[in-house]
Amino acid sequence: MSKQVISTPVIRRLPRYYRFLGDLERENVERISSRELAQRMGLSASQIRQDFNCFGGFGQQGYGYHVKELREIIGGILGVNERTGVILIGAGNLGKAIAAHVDFEKRGCNLIGIFDSDPLLAGTSTAGLPIMPMETLNSFCSQHHPQVAVLCIPKDAAQALTDELIAFGIGGFWNFSHFDLRVNNPDVIVENVHLGDSLMTLAYCMHHSTDEE
Ligand code: NAI
Repeated sequence: MSKQVISTPVIRRLPRYYRFLGDLERENVERISSRELAQRMGLSASQIRQDFNCFGGFGQQGYGYHVKELREIIGGILGVNERTGVILIGAGNLGKAIAAHVDFEKRGCNLIGIFDSDPLLAGTSTAGLPIMPMETLNSFCSQHHPQVAVLCIPKDAAQALTDELIAFGIGGFWNFSHFDLRVNNPDVIVENVHLGDSLMTLAYCMHHSTDEE
């Protein structure tokens, strides 16, 4: 497969393809045309073909897509079979919910450590992992080399902690702290997540007509 830069909107659609193909597999659907897949996903068939062409194109003329194969290929692109080490910082309401309810393994990640600055939480556990004090973060990172940090801390603490974590070797941030992180290092990837933005998008769409209607 030739190495080309894939646009962010295409990358953002891949997990959705992966999810829909998983549903189709569970329904024992063996193959599907781009038109049928488009209908199910609320996309156009040409959009789907264009997206898949970014990776060399997966379908066969007149046959459509082999669901299981396509899901495996997209899963491979998304790295779901990798075992990326993940730590979570901030074991409050949100951190505990994410640790308990996000299926990290299914997405190619292993949640291997949870940290919090509250001494009252040290020694307790969540999602089957002990909550560790921040003082042990450096030595934990040297020993276990996690690559990704999930930030569930208040926004005031986010930037300083991020700089520290980069120095400890963290290269990816799944940031829930309601603060859009600034990182100058081009090798560090940040995914800022704001559930409220998604809700506001919904609210907007309910009050305005959009292209998709
Ligand atoms: P919380 O107060 O229940 O938990 C925060 C935890 O972070 C506490 O256990 C605290 O001891 C710990 N903490 C604080 N500073 C720390 C530091 N420097 N290092 C390590 N641990 C530290 O708060 P909650 O409800 O869990 O929310 C956490 C953050 O996530 C808040 O900033 C909140 O605004 C944000 N949030 C973001 C959402 C999103 O969609 N992005 C949705 C909900 C909350």
